[in-house]
Amino acid sequence: MAKLFINPEVKKGHVNPELQGHFSEHLGRCIYEGIYVGENSDIPNVNGMRKDVVEALKEIKVPVLRWPGGCFADEYHWKDGIGPKEKRKKMINTHWGGVVEDNSFGTHEFMELCRQLGCKTYVNGNVGSGTVQEMSEWVEYMTFKGVSPMADQRKANGHEEPWVVDYFGVGNENWGCGGNMRPEYYGDLFRRYQTYVRNYDNAHPIAKIACGANAGDYHWTEKVLETCFDHGFGFMNGLSLHYYTVPGTWEHKGSATDFSKEEWYNTMAKTMYMETLIQRHGAIMDQFDPDKKIGMMIDEWGTWYDVEPGTNPGFLYQQNTIRDALVAGINLNLFNKNCDRVKMANIAQMVNVLQSVILTEGKKMVKTPTWHVFNLYKVHQDNDLVESTLTGNTEVGLGNSKAKKLTESVTVDEKGKLYVTLTNLSLDEAETMEVALPKVKSVKGQIVTGKMDAHNTFKAPNKVQSAAFDDVTVTKDGLSFELPARSVVLLEVTLKK
Ligand code: AHR
Repeated sequence: MAKLFINPEVKKGHVNPELQGHFSEHLGRCIYEGIYVGENSDIPNVNGMRKDVVEALKEIKVPVLRWPGGCFADEYHWKDGIGPKEKRKKMINTHWGGVVEDNSFGTHEFMELCRQLGCKTYVNGNVGSGTVQEMSEWVEYMTFKGVSPMADQRKANGHEEPWVVDYFGVGNENWGCGGNMRPEYYGDLFRRYQTYVRNYDNAHPIAKIACGANAGDYHWTEKVLETCFDHGFGFMNGLSLHYYTVPGTWEHKGSATDFSKEEWYNTMAKTMYMETLIQRHGAIMDQFDPDKKIGMMIDEWGTWYDVEPGTNPGFLYQQNTIRDALVAGINLNLFNKNCDRVKMANIAQMVNVLQSVILTEGKKMVKTPTWHVFNLYKVHQDNDLVESTLTGNTEVGLGNSKAKKLTESVTVDEKGKLYVTLTNLSLDEAETMEVALPKVKSVKGQIVTGKMDAHNTFKAPNKVQSAAFDDVTVTKDGLSFELPARSVVLLEVTLKK
């Protein structure tokens, strides 16, 4: 038996909606077909954006969207993606499949997508192969209201008013695909480039995000902060972190749908490594920034498997099962639990790539098990994290791949209602749960569960869905219930006044 102690009186921090953020990259069928089909498509669309996809994304309350990459960001030249579409330059997407990028989805289209989604904007600039001038002009183009060469061009291209850029990334993975730099060198470039990311609109200052580490590269975090931090917070509002769950090796990652019990537990154990990364990078950040003014922005996370058989290896298209639902539930719980430092997280990528919430095939669309977990967790957005502790949380796993069986997080909304999300990582053991929480008036639950490889296909799009989880008893001390194996559960708890 495991026991969850909840103390609603003790608030531990604010859960930024951005912890449930997304990432869209010019990669495979993410943007083209997955989101943008153009106004003349026979797929129903609004200003070129697929209606079905936008509806499904609105349902999970996408809070923020990062674009245009990824590795693509550091070879993207924004001026190629503005003005009349027929005149836009074509380029080769060298990172992702060597296909022709016709730039028909550019800045105006991204801003239109965010408008339709009602989400914040996170634009990632090009440091690897772009100039300071290019970056500076992009910010001017997007956000300057008055008369200036770039603002005039925006107006001539049909958008009189400036847009709001909520977050701006100064480069992506500059330790790798973004220029293979050393942290000291990138740190200096960050100082220089960010100087020209001007705040033209004081009502909406742009939060500047520096390129952070690849997984456990603590040296990068330390050296970048050492190089940049002395100028204080106006200088850097966030530092990114990228970490993917790869069950096998980078050469043989494993199949998304056809996997063994060992691979299940590898996936769980490797996902739980996110907790270590947050703590250790967080400890370095604490040395420079003890008041936690700089956010840890985990702006790429998710599972990464071998591509689906027969698909373009450069497109990174993968299916999504109950195993991914667990990965999503675990990570979203970890982000909530560390919301004092983690201020944004973006799952990669929103549609048709790695751990996507939506898959499309021509006119068809499916919501993945990961979508269903985001749909459960959306109730946490903008709540406060409350104190909660688990006891009796045993280990599960096989061989060297062991992980704690359960994860949890608990938040409270402004009306005092509590939201408890739980994951059970075990393949075959339910857990008897007791929740110590006085004064429960009522409880309502939902669950996402299924066989370990259960997934939604275009032929059977609703195999995995959320269902009511009613077998919860209100006791004199709180709650008691059985948490099924391979499950992600949400409990909404109303307390007596
Ligand atoms: O998500 C795919 C790629 O992974 C991104 O483009 C890059 O930033 C990371 O290496």
